[in-house]
Amino acid sequence: MQTRTRRLRSTEAIRKLVRETRVSSSALIYPLFVRAGTGVVEPLPAMEGQTRYSADTVVKAVEAALQVGVSSFLLFGLPDSKDEIGSGAYADDGVIQQSLRNLKGAFQDDICLITDLCLCEYTSHGHCGVIANADVDNDATLALLAQTAVSQAAAGADIIAPSGMMDGTVATLRAALDTYGMIQVPIMSYAAKYASAFYGPFRDAAGSAPQFGDRKSYQMDYHNSREALRRVLADVDEGADMIIIKPALTDLDIIARVSDATKIPIAAYSVSGEYAMIKAAAKLDLIDEYKAMCESAVTVFRAGAGMLITYFALELAEAIKRGDIG
Ligand code: PBG
Repeated sequence: MQTRTRRLRSTEAIRKLVRETRVSSSALIYPLFVRAGTGVVEPLPAMEGQTRYSADTVVKAVEAALQVGVSSFLLFGLPDSKDEIGSGAYADDGVIQQSLRNLKGAFQDDICLITDLCLCEYTSHGHCGVIANADVDNDATLALLAQTAVSQAAAGADIIAPSGMMDGTVATLRAALDTYGMIQVPIMSYAAKYASAFYGPFRDAAGSAPQFGDRKSYQMDYHNSREALRRVLADVDEGADMIIIKPALTDLDIIARVSDATKIPIAAYSVSGEYAMIKAAAKLDLIDEYKAMCESAVTVFRAGAGMLITYFALELAEAIKRGDIG
């Protein structure tokens, strides 16, 4: 074999040509927080740069996102009042239902609206389901989730994303949607969701921190990875069309493993704590925010995710447009 005495030529154009990972703004999903009321444009202190909207103002936010090339959104609702059974989640005039109608009215199928389906933002105790004997009652919760999914789909949701981690959720939702003739509405299940410290800023933003206990009985232990695979396969079996793995950066191994083991489309959720870490470290001048944002997004795709849910969606779309990544 001939010994090389020179390095291969490496121009920016060549490096871009041989890149193994391509990213596109069409793979980005931007989370939006909508609360009750009108005219709300409220900065979220725990998540600098993110905003809480109401069902009317969210239309402008989506219009701005469309302009930079982001057209998929994950909607979270913050109701006016909460109760034991999270009834704001499935109310016909609920904050999410109103937002869906307004957004679909304005943009039709130019946008893809994914609704986070969970009760924790709507329950007074902050847990993801109804409580019985100081614990979440799995089966009683399923009935309410089914009602919520049908109500969201009827209001215009393109994809339903159950995040509550109750056993049997996907099968229950599929059956409920099919019963109401919504057989065409896909389910994107949060199949592998770890009980994570990185959800802290979100719980502040959504006012959904549990008032007692924690979510460890229904979210996964981060010591486990085969369990993630088992849950993904179970959700696929129950009829999930796509799955979410969350958080993202602490779960690159899980993303890779699931992507090797299945053909199901994978969305990784770069959660609020990941966003806040980059923001906070950049503020202290410890890291370059833009570069850290780009690197952490691309590596999630490199690991095997096909979609990325991220609070940096708009900035990433600009980075892609500029050719800094992609
Ligand atoms: C549950 C839900 C949570 C997040 C998304 N959906 C909170 C939780 O599990 O406690 C967290 C997202 C983030 O941290 O950005 N409805």
